[in-house]
Amino acid sequence: MEEVKKETGWIDKSLPVDWGKVKEEAIGEILPQHMKLWWYCLGGVPALMFMLLVGTGMLLAFYYVPHPDKAYESVAHITNDIPYGWWLRSLHRWGAEIMVVTVSLHAIRVFATGAYRHPREVCWISGALLLLLTFGLGFTGYSLVYTQQSYWAMTIGTGIAGKTPIIGSFISRFMMGGEAIGPDTLNRFFIIHAAILPVLLFLLIIFHIIVIRLHGVAEHVVGMQREIVRGLSRGDE
Ligand code: HEM
Repeated sequence: MEEVKKETGWIDKSLPVDWGKVKEEAIGEILPQHMKLWWYCLGGVPALMFMLLVGTGMLLAFYYVPHPDKAYESVAHITNDIPYGWWLRSLHRWGAEIMVVTVSLHAIRVFATGAYRHPREVCWISGALLLLLTFGLGFTGYSLVYTQQSYWAMTIGTGIAGKTPIIGSFISRFMMGGEAIGPDTLNRFFIIHAAILPVLLFLLIIFHIIVIRLHGVAEHVVGMQREIVRGLSRGDE
């Protein structure tokens, strides 16, 4: 029998993509039962928080001025004068805190359940880089408000980065824009915070998720081992 072609609209003709297949690929994967436990799917929370941070950060960037004489005032202006500025700042701040906490919990879960093992080394290494980048995002963001605390955080952070073997002095000079914290430092921190780190994080999150999808999520290793041990002690082998 001849196949009846479905009537297609302008979008389907202009963008000949099989949306059903895309949807199936994106959300149709059948997951094992243990993924219903919240601590097994914590990785999604930092991904959502990242999206929130990009959205709210773009809006904050309209008003923030990365200059030592103006940074603090511009933040106060966002909080006190801009309509819903206080709300935007709170979303950005809380989103950042939740991202740092949940990405750490996610890493602990992956470690505790042994989900980093072969063949998931690339997942683990990309995850470790994501952890570093997330901390970098938090640290540079904290410094942007340019209070006394931010200033000393910058001093300590660049000092720690400077102690990295071989490339340490290059990294600290790159971050500070010279040999010491000066007028260029805040501008550099802003570029690192609002452009370099978000782009790197975005690319790495996509890579991380592609690698996870290629492998599928790990088995419930901890539970399985317990079952095997129980089985062995009952002499089931
Ligand atoms: C922005 C940061 C991160 C995002 C958005 C992210 C996202 C995800 C997502 C969505 C999953 C699927 C399962 C789950 O939700 O647990 C996952 C799994 C995984 N993640 Fe992450 N992750 C991040 C950071 C990390 C870190 C810091 C590590 C470790 C150092 C890591 C290592 C892994 C590994 C090994 C898996 C596979 C786990 C399994 O198969 O059960 N990830 N990640």
